[in-house]
Amino acid sequence: MKSNSLVLVLVLAMLSVCAVTDADSLEKKPNDWLLGAKSDAERFESLQTYLRGFDQPMWEVGERFRIIHDALSRNNFELAAYHWEKIRVTIKNGYMKRPARQANSDAILLNSTWGEVNEAFGANNAQQAWAGFEKAKNACMACHVAESVPFMNRQALFELAKPD
Ligand code: HEC
Repeated sequence: MKSNSLVLVLVLAMLSVCAVTDADSLEKKPNDWLLGAKSDAERFESLQTYLRGFDQPMWEVGERFRIIHDALSRNNFELAAYHWEKIRVTIKNGYMKRPARQANSDAILLNSTWGEVNEAFGANNAQQAWAGFEKAKNACMACHVAESVPFMNRQALFELAKPD
């Protein structure tokens, strides 16, 4: 009995030493910004902050839209369609984070305009594809006005058009 409880005390003592060493070693690594957090709640908070709001998806959308312009300039309609699909995914991921942006995203772009532009890129015809590009651009700009960021439209990206 007596030796049994001694073993138990020893085991418990060893376990607690291990636990302390573990926590200590995590705290000692400053780059473990997630693993070193004190709780999952703190981890999720850090992730949520790090993953930003609507601005970062829009940044990606802008970059992909610029590549669509480049793709159409080379008659690479498949590349244009590829980025157009990624733009849809990116906007949906954007409003997963900022639900207030969903109504205008859907009404102005995703519900019908997105499909029309997708067909235009799929037609393998330069004239139709460029018409699709203009339609897309107008929807982007309309949403910026609707979402009270009209200054977004005054930048080189929205001056892109079919080359002469
Ligand atoms: C919900 C409607 C909506 C649609 C649709 C939309 N945008 Fe935006 N866009 C916004 C809002 C809102 C911001 C400002 C985000 C912020 O302040 O966090 C923005 C910002 C931007 C920015 C600046 C991002 C940055 O921080 O560098 C670019 C570029 C952009 N949009 C491009 C586009 C393009 C291209 C399209 C069309 C393919 C488009 N947007 C469609 C609402 C929209």
